[in-house]
Amino acid sequence: MPAPSVKTLLLSQDDLIRVGVQDMPECVNVIEGVFELLGKGDYMMGGPRENEHGQMIWFPEEKRFNIPVTGPDRRFMAMIAYLGGEYNICGEKWYGSNAENKKKGLPRSILTTILNDADTGIPFAIMSGNMISAMRTGAVPGVASRHLARKGSRVVGAIGAGVINKTCTLAIAAGLGTIEEAVIYDPFPAASQSYANEMKEKLGIKVRMVETIREAVEDADVITIATSGENFPRIETEWLKKGVLLTMTGAADMDEDAFHKCTLFADNWKMHQAFIADGNEHPKGFSALEVIAPSYPLIKLVNEDKIDEKIIRNLGEVVLGTDPGRKDDDEQIIFVTGGMPVHDLAWGMTLYRKAVAKGLGQEFTFF
Ligand SMILES: NC(=O)c1ccc[n+]([C@@H]2O[C@H](COP(=O)([O-])OP(=O)(O)OC[C@H]3O[C@@H](n4cnc5c(N)ncnc54)[C@H](O)[C@@H]3O)[C@@H](O)[C@H]2O)c1
Repeated sequence: MPAPSVKTLLLSQDDLIRVGVQDMPECVNVIEGVFELLGKGDYMMGGPRENEHGQMIWFPEEKRFNIPVTGPDRRFMAMIAYLGGEYNICGEKWYGSNAENKKKGLPRSILTTILNDADTGIPFAIMSGNMISAMRTGAVPGVASRHLARKGSRVVGAIGAGVINKTCTLAIAAGLGTIEEAVIYDPFPAASQSYANEMKEKLGIKVRMVETIREAVEDADVITIATSGENFPRIETEWLKKGVLLTMTGAADMDEDAFHKCTLFADNWKMHQAFIADGNEHPKGFSALEVIAPSYPLIKLVNEDKIDEKIIRNLGEVVLGTDPGRKDDDEQIIFVTGGMPVHDLAWGMTLYRKAVAKGLGQEFTFF
């Protein structure tokens, strides 16, 4: 029997924009649904623990053949998953990242999302992944805010004014519906200005640009951290307001007492356990994880037995309703997130279905 023809739909960033990749309220709802699947366990990620963030190419310190030499934010990463529920697909987010890209006018990382039929392996969609990833990354603290922030939260404090913290802020606003003001700190005023312009335009909220991290933190009901580079923002525990939700999409420099004082939630603690196991096997030692795990400050404490991991709870169970979530309005909560391919798959699949309905994209005959 001759093999049937296999078609793949190629979707560009423009195609994705036309089907609403930037629709944050919808993205938050889709990602909330994925957390419910995580709570049920209807998913798999890579590796024997079924929960690996991804498989990374760590470039060497010294020149070997033509292999690129390591540098700031320089890596390749393949992030693979199966996602159940209404999706029942496998897929991958695959990216290369290099801080030097910015000098060439390129984004720091360049991402591709691939969706495969879970039975046959057919790659039925290959998609431009940057916007999918930025939106799904932001949507995670959006879902966390909906389920863990104090009711009536009004002020977002944002540390870092890059692409990711813009989507985080849009999602926190979408997740809560009560945000009236954002306070932004970034060492580069032009970055803060760009954040302020976008938040005013898209959310119609007041935006205050401040010159210290403390000012961005101390009035905030929800804090979102997403900075790049080697210097994690320093946050003192006493700056945290009563009832705050601090979301760590990127790492922060915080004292151990913050992690004892606050209730701890993760996007999926099993993935952070996999980070810990990888860190302990890494030839450069556990600290090699600092550059890839936004939860590094917490996983380091767990690895050193300074925090008992049993107290760390999962957002999926809160969304599913098997964990009660926030205890009261005074409780201070830290939420860590590390990035999961299941989220790229869900948002990618949602957009793929819309693109098919609209006849968008370019069909490619695989064989
Ligand atoms: N958890 C996830 O799923 C996930 C996914 C994607 C990216 N990230 C993380 O999000 C972070 C931000 O990514 P991005 O693409 O927006 O980067 P970006 O380079 O576009 O923006 C980061 C901003 O942070 C600012 N910054 C640097 N150090 C700072 C400091 N100490 N205090 C305040 N601001 C500071 C920079 O000036 C810049 O404006 C990265 O750490 C990245 O690894 C996490």
